[in-house]
Amino acid sequence: DPSLDALIADLAVDVPDFPSPGVVFRDLTPVFADGPAFRRVVEGLAAPSLVDPRAAALAAGGAGPGYDLVVGVEARGFLLAAAVALDTGLGVVPVRKAGKLPRERLSADYSLEYGTATLEVHTDSIRPGQRVLVVDDVLATGGTLAAAITLVEGLGGIVTAVSVVVELAALGGRQRIAPHTVHSLWST
Ligand code: PRP
Ligand code: HPA
Repeated sequence: DPSLDALIADLAVDVPDFPSPGVVFRDLTPVFADGPAFRRVVEGLAAPSLVDPRAAALAAGGAGPGYDLVVGVEARGFLLAAAVALDTGLGVVPVRKAGKLPRERLSADYSLEYGTATLEVHTDSIRPGQRVLVVDDVLATGGTLAAAITLVEGLGGIVTAVSVVVELAALGGRQRIAPHTVHSLWST
């Protein structure tokens, strides 16, 4: 079997000048479309060894993966978070773009390349002290994951792990998320 990072690198497709000139977009849809690869990716994102030791030390001990709930970030994070939740037997909570959630919600603004956007979560979706794994497909500048972490922590959740399929290392997202540790299956 190839290593997981080699498998992802082989299946991902680089798209020059998308969504704007000069950007090379890493398209992961072929990774998700390959059944065995998708399974390995989901198991990699879910792996108990990914739990941030700093946060885990604060959390209650016990068996299991080190988190009680899986949070997925709209939209591509949803594909992964739901699969991780099924694989671990846990529930999944969506962090959504503004205006999509119907009930009482907490909001966090984050910066995009041009301007800002807003993420939201239902206020009753995470209980204080619950240990949370946050999942997304790509870590680029880190603005999206930083906002998602802010929302989880704003509800009293403890982010014990953050997992992504691909980290675009040159964009500095890992530094932006610190002191949380980002676990990426492929760093490029
Ligand atoms: C992409 C990607 C991550 C985010 C990474 O989502 O899926 O969520 O950007 O970028 P960042 O680290 O610089 O914040 P996008 O906002 O394009 O939304 P989508 O999943 O709905 O396509
Ligand atoms: N690929 C996929 N998603 C992304 C990228 C990328 O290169 N940059 C920001 N989100």
